[in-house]
Amino acid sequence: MDAFVIEGGRPLHGVVPIGGAKNAALPILAATILAERRCVIKNVPLLRDVDTLGEILRELGVSCERRASDGAIETETVDTSNCTASYDLVRRMRASFCVLGPLLARRGHARVSLPGGCVFGLRPVDLHIKGLRALGAEIRLEHGYVVAKAPRGGRLHGGHVYLGGAYGPSVTGTANVMMAATLANGKTVIEGAACEPEIADLARFLVAMGATIHGIGTPRLEITGVPALDGACYSVIPDRIEAGTFAIAGALTGGEVRLRDARSEHLSAVIDRLREIGVAIERSGDELVCARDTERLRRHGGRFRPADIVTHPYPGFPTDLQAQTIALLSIADGISVVTEKIYPDRFMHLAELNRMGAAIRKEGPSAIITGVERLTGTDVMASDLRASAALVLAGLVAEGTTRVHRVYHIDRGYERIEAKLAALGARIRRVDEQEAVAA
Ligand code: EPU
Repeated sequence: MDAFVIEGGRPLHGVVPIGGAKNAALPILAATILAERRCVIKNVPLLRDVDTLGEILRELGVSCERRASDGAIETETVDTSNCTASYDLVRRMRASFCVLGPLLARRGHARVSLPGGCVFGLRPVDLHIKGLRALGAEIRLEHGYVVAKAPRGGRLHGGHVYLGGAYGPSVTGTANVMMAATLANGKTVIEGAACEPEIADLARFLVAMGATIHGIGTPRLEITGVPALDGACYSVIPDRIEAGTFAIAGALTGGEVRLRDARSEHLSAVIDRLREIGVAIERSGDELVCARDTERLRRHGGRFRPADIVTHPYPGFPTDLQAQTIALLSIADGISVVTEKIYPDRFMHLAELNRMGAAIRKEGPSAIITGVERLTGTDVMASDLRASAALVLAGLVAEGTTRVHRVYHIDRGYERIEAKLAALGARIRRVDEQEAVAA
């Protein structure tokens, strides 16, 4: 197991290339199960979650290889006999559940392990099941697996379904039902659909394969089923969460980070809240330039301004940047309140940030953050992907040495984060746990 050793206090400067979006690449790769022919997916980040999905696809008879020439991933169905996605693979990554809709639509049946909960809550899949049932699927839960069958004839039919739940629409639930509907007989209407850019990206990939989808990017999707989908070549959108994380890194360390290829239109809520806190974000050509807004912060003695933030489904402030933003607010000049409306228990990072000198308490689904003047480095434990990113950010600005343990979480969703940070001037090293303990 690896750890990061970070010497804090160095301002980051320079250009960082933003990679392809993990949460778009994963359902897009799952969607290739639907294709009759070869697909080529470009701009797929090098991540552990992508490797895991590759393993699942291969288990399901879909070849999945990365080209040495340009890093694109090629997939092609070679054997349709196995329709079971096993617990061993699905438990590693919930996004694996996205193979359910495509398998059911293309092969008429599927057996996919229930993903189970995770460190930030129960994370049920009832909305996925509700949506697929509305398309005529017969679904049983058996021995920890979802066993799904298309109606007689092996084909789903169109249906009308509302996919909003108690915490808003389901992102991967929308992906599963939309993918299944592309090959169903007739028209499907999904209301309360997730509007995340990653879902719109998946929809555009499906259209490139020959699907008919209207309302892309809106909460009402209309999908008219087609008899078959062809292969397609497609390039994944840039990762808005990686972009937001590096924007915070630039401002937090008092440097200037230029994000290459970030899409500001996917970051409206984030840019709005970060500007409020005192992060200057401006476009310059194809880069977004992120730094401290020194003018705005003058009244606060150069410290960030406190803010109240509530996470919401897109286009609201993303839950996937909640932890990183709390790291930023932990050194603001005043009290901030960050409320989680998507995952009320996604707060494992608070205790670790407090070990670094932050003053944060939890009240129900909110973190109350009393800004402190400085953080100090120590040993901290990463509990999940975005929490790990928050601890790395805190380490970059903390006095002294921070050792972030269990960084395998971060490898799930950030491509070579330590290399990208080091290229901006951070002192960060990946070491094995033994070395981190000795450091
Ligand atoms: N929910 C239900 N029933 C369902 C599905 C979800 O009640 O059937 C609830 C969840 O418990 C949660 C809310 O609805 O409270 C939203 O969950 P959603 O289904 O949208 O989450 P997801 O699709 O499992 C994706 C991302 C997550 C991101 C969330 C919210 C992927 C692969 N994962 O998860 O990304 O946090 O949407 O935006 O797209 C990450 O990248 O770190 C990450 C966790």
